[in-house]
Formats: sequence, structure tokens, C-alpha cells
Amino acid sequence: MSKQKALSELKAFMLRAFPGRKLVFGHDRLNAKTALIGEAPGKEEERTGKPFVGRAGKLLDKALENAGISRSGAYITNVVKFRPTKGKANRKPNKNEVQAFAPFLIKELKIIKPRVVCTLGATALEALTGRKEITKLRGKIIKIKSGGPVLIILPTYHPAAVLRFRRLQGKFFSDIRKLKKLA
Ligand code: URA
Repeated sequence: MSKQKALSELKAFMLRAFPGRKLVFGHDRLNAKTALIGEAPGKEEERTGKPFVGRAGKLLDKALENAGISRSGAYITNVVKFRPTKGKANRKPNKNEVQAFAPFLIKELKIIKPRVVCTLGATALEALTGRKEITKLRGKIIKIKSGGPVLIILPTYHPAAVLRFRRLQGKFFSDIRKLKKLA
């Protein structure tokens, strides 16, 4: 089956699994060598239907440009495909939401087959590896096997965290440069 068809089927399955929710899917860069995985769409992403188009996305764009990675050459998506809205505004997705979407993310990555996957922030790191120590693990390669080819993961900070704590920016940019070398 073609990547395009497999991905369309997966999206259709997710739409049926979460009826009535507005889902924001990845950019369809089917031959991307690099995948970047965020947490969940925010307000702007929900409005436009595209991942990482708000303030955090602008910073991600800068880091990609600095590393010489074109956005069009990267597959960018989130673990949770809808904006977490119940309760606090702009809250993090909860455990149930992450668990509901994590298997779909693995399927998505198996379809795209990027050479390297960059997890942006602790939610994506934990969803793919089960590990939480972002400060310790950022910039280090983790290999996981989930019933298919080994996935090479490079964790880094979430760009929204970098916007809040500007001291993280140097490491964030250098991790994204490392991503370019691995792809
Ligand atoms: N934060 C994320 O984790 N994902 C987006 O798409 C936007 C902001």
C-alpha cells in the first residue's frame, strides 16, 4: 500500500475514533527524513488545522532554519491530535488523552519511516519511550523498537518551554542542528 493511502486510512480511523473533535494532523511530507513531534495543537493550530503555526511554531521555524532543515522537508505533528479544551485553557493533555493517541503516533511513524524522530518536550518523549527525564535525555539518541524497524529518537525541549525559559534556547538550537546531521 502507498504511504499516501496508508496515512489517509489512519486519519480516517482517528476521525471515527474521536467523533465530533477537530483533529489537527501532521504536514503531509511523506518522504521526510526528519519527523518532529509536539504535544497537542493550541488555539491557532486548531483554527488553521495545521500543527505549530502559533508562537511556538515560529520559534521552531527559526531553529529549523538555523539548522538548514526546511519545514517542507520535515514531517511535523503532535502526539495528541486535538486541542485539550475541557477544564483549564491551554492545559497539557492528560494521561488518558496521551495513551489514546500514542498507538496512532507509532503507526504514523511506521508509515512515514523518517530516519530520525525529534520529540519536542516531555509529553512526546514519554509517549514514545516511556521515559520522562527530558533534562537528562535531551540531545541524546534513544533507540526504540516497537514491532518494526528501530526508531531513532532525539529528544529536545518543547519550543513553548524555550519561549518561557530563554536560557534553554542555545541547547534547543544545538539539538535541532544535531537532528540535521542524523537525518
Ligand atoms: N504546541 C504543540 O505541542 N503543538 C502545536 O502544534 C503547537 C503548539
